[in-house]
Amino acid sequence: MARKIFIAGNWKMNKTAAETRALCEALKTSLAPFAGKAEVAVCPTFTSLTTAVEILKGTNVKVGAQNIHWADEGAFTGEISGAMLKEIGVEYVIIGHSERRQYFGETDETVNKRTAAALKYGLKPIVCIGETLAEREGNQTEAVLEKQIRGAFAGIPAAAMADITIAYEPVWAIGTGKTATPDMAEATHAFIRKVLTDLFGAAVADAAVIQYGGSMKPGNAKDLVAQKDIDGGLIGGAALKADSFTELVKNAIGA
Ligand code: 13P
Repeated sequence: MARKIFIAGNWKMNKTAAETRALCEALKTSLAPFAGKAEVAVCPTFTSLTTAVEILKGTNVKVGAQNIHWADEGAFTGEISGAMLKEIGVEYVIIGHSERRQYFGETDETVNKRTAAALKYGLKPIVCIGETLAEREGNQTEAVLEKQIRGAFAGIPAAAMADITIAYEPVWAIGTGKTATPDMAEATHAFIRKVLTDLFGAAVADAAVIQYGGSMKPGNAKDLVAQKDIDGGLIGGAALKADSFTELVKNAIGA
């Protein structure tokens, strides 16, 4: 089946609300020609979400958050709930990014709980997985990814997979300028789809959208997204400027 191409910008801890306003105003116009040709989203920080939702309402650019807590409410200082995100009109939420795993103690278990919470509140999870350089060099990539996938989706029903995107981000490629080659990324994406087949069956695995992330730029997006099992990208640095993000989307869809 033909899967949609999905390009999302992960703004990480960048852009004040004023800067978000300017960038979203620019993207609203520059990305308009790609309506219907690809799913496109931006994921700003919590303080910029309402601004992004307000400016992008009614456009083809969706808005996502960068984290969600698993509890409905309560004594969890510094966290944000699904109800809070849903209320302001957020559609996607990034879960388990390697920076959260590395710096904030995120585990496969917390990724699983956050994924279930997002689904409960009608938010679409973008679940991040990926191996470190030491794991790749130690031939551990497949074992690491399989553990992350099985952990993230434990108890998640097959039907929910239609709302879930997987972002494969090799940790060694994030912000380093080192991209996995299209062949290397494709081999890993095909492996991820095989694990999904084991877990949920061929039809669900075939329909699953799997993004690549890690130094995806306007110049390499086309070759990466042209691969059979690569369905788009989760973009860091190149998503912070309207011209580079727009060029990347254009190249990824081959427009
Ligand atoms: P870069 O595109 O800056 O390498 O970041 C990738 C990423 O971590 C997206 O979530």
